[in-house]
This record gives sequence, C-alpha cells and structure tokens, in this order.
Amino acid sequence: MSERIESLLAQMTLEEKAGQLNFPVGDLFVTGPAMITAESAEFDDRIRNGTITGLFNIHGAKYTARLQRIAVEESRLKIPLLIGADVIHGFQTMFPIPLAEAASWDIEAIEESARIAARESTAVGINFNFAPMVDIARDARWGRSAEGAGEDPFYGSLVGAARIRGFQGDDLSKPYTVAACVKHIAAYGAAEGGREYNTVDMSERRLREVYLPPYKAAIDAGAATVMTSFNEFDGVPVTASKFLLQDILREEWGFNGMVVSDWASVPEMVIHGSANDTCDAAKQAIEGGTDMDMMGEAFIEHIPQLVQDGKVSMETVDHAVRNVLRLKEKLGLFDDPFRYSDEKREKTELRSRKHLSAAHDMARKSIVLLKNQNQILPLAKEGKSIALIGQLAENSAEMNGCWAYFAKPYHPISFLTGIKEKAPALTINYAEGYHLYNETTRYFDEAIEVAQNSDILVVAVGEGAVMNGEAASRAEIGLPGNQLSLLKELKRLRKPIIALVSCGRGIAIPWLAENADAILVNWALGSEAGRAVADVLFGDYNPSGKLPVTFPRSVGQAPIYYGSRTTGRPYDGDYSEPKSERIYTSKYRDEKNSPLFPFGFGLSYSTFRYSNLQISQEQITAEDRLRVFVDVENAGEVAGEEVVQFYIRDMVGSVTRPVKELKGFKKVKLQSREKQTIEFSLGANDLSFYRRDMTWGYEEGEFEVMIGGSSESVLTTKFNLIS
Ligand code: BGC
Repeated sequence: MSERIESLLAQMTLEEKAGQLNFPVGDLFVTGPAMITAESAEFDDRIRNGTITGLFNIHGAKYTARLQRIAVEESRLKIPLLIGADVIHGFQTMFPIPLAEAASWDIEAIEESARIAARESTAVGINFNFAPMVDIARDARWGRSAEGAGEDPFYGSLVGAARIRGFQGDDLSKPYTVAACVKHIAAYGAAEGGREYNTVDMSERRLREVYLPPYKAAIDAGAATVMTSFNEFDGVPVTASKFLLQDILREEWGFNGMVVSDWASVPEMVIHGSANDTCDAAKQAIEGGTDMDMMGEAFIEHIPQLVQDGKVSMETVDHAVRNVLRLKEKLGLFDDPFRYSDEKREKTELRSRKHLSAAHDMARKSIVLLKNQNQILPLAKEGKSIALIGQLAENSAEMNGCWAYFAKPYHPISFLTGIKEKAPALTINYAEGYHLYNETTRYFDEAIEVAQNSDILVVAVGEGAVMNGEAASRAEIGLPGNQLSLLKELKRLRKPIIALVSCGRGIAIPWLAENADAILVNWALGSEAGRAVADVLFGDYNPSGKLPVTFPRSVGQAPIYYGSRTTGRPYDGDYSEPKSERIYTSKYRDEKNSPLFPFGFGLSYSTFRYSNLQISQEQITAEDRLRVFVDVENAGEVAGEEVVQFYIRDMVGSVTRPVKELKGFKKVKLQSREKQTIEFSLGANDLSFYRRDMTWGYEEGEFEVMIGGSSESVLTTKFNLIS
C-alpha cells in the first residue's frame, strides 16, 4: 500500500478514476481502427481534465516532456502520464524480428537486444512497452508468428523471460528501463485456420501445457503488465475472461501488476456477441479483470455511471486504478515525470555505434543455413562473379521487418550494399527480378540476362515486411507473387543458386529445398541486415542459427510442430513404401507428414558429430536428478557453434504425451576437431505434466532421452522413473 496512491484515490472523482483507466493512441500513427481522431490540442485538454492516463505510439523527448508538463502542472491531481509504444524489436536501431532472434538460441543476446530497445525508447519519453509477445505459434498461416519465439513452450518461456529482464532491468524507476507488457494473454496464436483475430478453443490441458507457460515465465520474471488478447477463449472474449485474468493470472500466479486490454477489445465484445452494448462490455471487462481500456473509450464513457447505478462496485474500480497508479509509481514518474524524456540521450543513444554493433551481431546469429550442397558456401571474395537478384536484395525498408514504425525506411543496410562492402573486388550484377507486391514479369528478362552474365546466382526471395506481423495471415505460405516462376526460369541456366529467404513464419519452400544449392533463412534482420548476410555468405561468420519453428512442406500441413502426439495409427514412412498396408494411417494422400525442415534444424560450415550418449543411472526416483552426457565434436575445418538440444519422451502416461519435448539446450563453440562432453540434467519436475485428473505431477515409468543438433537427428537412450 502506498500512501501517495491512497491519498490520490481519496481525492479522485469517479471521472478522474475512469480517466486513469483510459488509454488512447496518440497522433503519430495508429495500428488499428481509430475510435477518435483527436488533434494534439484535444489531447492537451484531455490531459488537463484528467480523462486519459497517457497516450501511446508517440515519442520524442521534447514532445513527451511537454505532455508530462501539462499533466503535472495543469491537471487537478498532477498525475504523470504513461507513454506507451510497440517497441517490438528495436526503436530506431532495428534488431531482427523476434522470431529471427529466437533462431539464435542465444538468451543473453536476446536479453541485450531488449535492453537496447529499452534504452532507445526511454530516451524519447516511452515508459511502457507493449512487448514481449510470447504467444506460441504452431500455425504458419498466422502472421504474428513473426513476433514471438516460435512453437515451443519451454524455449518460448526462456526467451520471454529474457525479454522481460532486458526491458525492465532490475529497477523500473531507472531512466533507461521500461515497463514490459506480456501479450496477448491467452492462446492468441491458436486462432482457427491461422486467421488473424479468429476464434480460439482448446482443452484446458493444452492451454496449460503449451500456451500458458511463456506468460507464466514472463510473470515470474517480473513483468509489470499484461495485455489481453483479441480472441475469445472457450466462448468468452478474453478481455472479460475471469478464468484467465483472475483465476489463473492473479490467483494462481500471484500477478499484482496492471492488465491492459488490446486495441478496442472492450467495445469489440459487442461485435463478438457477448455484450449488449459498450456499457455492458465495460462492465464485463472491468469485472473480468481488465484494468485499462486501450482505445475503446468504453471505460471513460460508462464506468462513472455504472458505479453510480450500483452496477459496478467502487472497489472494483479502485482496484484497477491502484494497479495503474502503482505502475506509474514504480516507474518513478511521481518523483520525476521527465526522467524518460531526455533530449541529450535522444541525440546520443539512438542508433549509437554500440547499438548498431549489437544489432549486427544479433542479425548474424539469427541467420539459419538450411542447405549447403557441395559446400558451395561460403563464397570467395574474389573470382567468380555474382548475380544478385530480387527486390528484397536491394530494398532497405523491407529489412526493418514488421513492427518498425519508429525506424527509418532508408536506414537498413541492404544485401546489395552489405555484399559490395564486404567483397569490393567481386563483380556483382544486380537485377530486381520480381515485384514483391504485384505479379508483373516485367523484370524477368533483365534478371535472366544478368544471370547469364554471372557465375553464381544469389537470389533474395520471400516475404516483404508487411506480409507478416499483425493482420498478416496468409492462406498460402509459400514464396509470394511470381518469385517461384522467376526461380524456375533461372534454374534453366544451370548455374548454382543460393537462396536468401526473408520470412516471418515457417515458410513453405519445397522447390528451393529441392533445387537451390544453398538456402539461408534471413527472416527480417533489421538495421544491419546486409552486413550480417554478407558475413555469412563469405564465411566471416559461421552460421549458428536453428529454426525455432517447423518449416512445413505445404500449407495443408498447418499446424505442424515437432511436439505432436503419436496417434493410434502413426505413419512415419514415405511414399516409396507399398500403399496397401499404409492406407488407414494418419497421413495425407498427397503430402508427407514430415516437415520440410524440422524444429531445431540449422547447418553450419562446421560438421558436428554426436557420440557416446550416457546417463548417470538407468533408474531414478523423484528425489534424484538424472545426469545426461553426450560428446559433441566439430569434425569440420573451421571453428563453429552448435546448439545441442535435449529432448525427452514420456513413453506411457495417464494421458498421451508428445513424441518429443525440449528440456534443455546448450550453445557451444568448438574449434576445428575439438570435442566436448556436454552435460544436461533433469528431475521429477521436468518430467511432470497435467495428468488425467488435471493435477500437475509425474508418473512412474519409462522415458526416452534424445540429444542432437535438431529435433530430428538425435541419439537416444532410456531410463525409468520409479518410486
Ligand atoms: C496489437 C497489439 C498492440 C496494440 C497497440 C494491437 O492491434 O494487437 O499487440 O500492442 O495494437 O498498437
């Protein structure tokens, strides 16, 4: 209990209380349908009369300081403002999109990236960041796959917690830390058909086992706020879900921070068909556990009246207001409302050399090498000429990726620039090749001519920045437009093809897998994209990324993820087997079950050999810890890094268990010919799950241990858990 907050509460009118729960977007840009189109002058008035708690998606040290001044000098209660924003992967120094960063499997680097985003955004007045998104994404059609850490709850939890630590540091009141917002609770990534904002419905078991862990991990890491999701869950729009927002979040997990709705998700309950009107929606939302109404104008409009009519209790409103004021207090805003609006830092920190260098490093770590036939990569910096083809190779803006509203389109280093910078002696012939956003074949001839005159074809294909992220679900998840037709034309020239693939999801690229000589997945790498790609292409950096999502063969496989169940009629063969015995099994008639590239997969210029998998004992009790050892050797000629992955399978359970569950990983650097013994350990808690009666715990029996460099290539052994 804070005296300051209690004394404020005692002085506040109902209208002022509702004002603290009302969070509209500012005047710089909007990311959803606008409810009000206010001019700056109108914002000034709203701040003066205390009907807004702050503004979001605005920035600028001077501008935000001016607004804070109005709040603390001209409003009756002098309550400072929250200034929010979506700083998803960097403010102006753009880091790779979150899914790309997850491919680095480098938790410290991910934390550092969030720390830098916090430093830059707090310099310009932002104190409340709508990140990280920790929604598990198993359906590549869902565009927001790009914003999270992929498909795995264990790994997603580690990444989510790292991002919280990075944004918030150890003290929210410091001028360079920002309040994080875990979003979007809950299970938003499981939208039916992968279609944005669509219905979500699943068993509580799946919810708890797969979708909730990353939110829980983020809250355990100290996340100050939580954002509700747009979707309904079990028939109730989440913004009013007592089950999620109170029973689980507050009671089970002990969360005592602030819950903000997503953009207009309060009034949207009327459209969902679960509220009669916005007044009813406001009542349901605040009683459900949403403290703050983002962009809905429903709380400010209706809460005073609802309280006066005795329909919502003052206690409910005070609880929400306390959560908001406590956040402002933790941010140190009452002591110094200007601490986040620092013109000096704004000048020196944005895109500082140090930040760009960290972004460069992160970008290299995020690249995943999927194919490298005959070791065509790395390329030599002299000699053979290169045709660099594709709009994505030259366009800087696309490198910023989704959620890059604060970034400048001309800032990022394009592949063309990065390659030229790296290999000035090389002949590089660039051609646009295709247009990202239409189907013209106008540029084909030029590209073919350029290819004819070059030795090696480096073709940049994949998604443009707006093809993933929010409101960017795709029904086809392959190469967009006519990129594939162009590739087929180029293939006829019988020259080596190196594909650079931009994407924010598990993109379906079966043709490339078959026909390209090398494939690098470069997602959207941010400010230093071109330099990072050039480092890998020419061997100045040995690729070490691994896929945090499964890459499907085709859209029909979605959702596809490594931790599936076996079913009663599993099929893991291929189509060369006799049909007759295989008909009534779990498979497609026209597609394999296996992914194109599995979770955890990624090559290196080194070759890693796994051997000698050992366990400390063949039987353990719930009190023991099993130790697991494996030798990993770099059998290649160059030093490299490998992500050693540790999976288990519970062979028999009171409910069926996934065929594999990630339980640990280590990223190790090995010199050429170096061998290291890597150790993992696990105990009963790592073997626990929601049993048939929904209690959490382990069951005795046999477990398989699997260790390898991807979820598919693994050494295995077994042990028993006994009483
Ligand atoms: C998104 C949120 C975002 C908010 C504010 C919504 O459309 O779903 O993730 O934080 O807009 O921009």
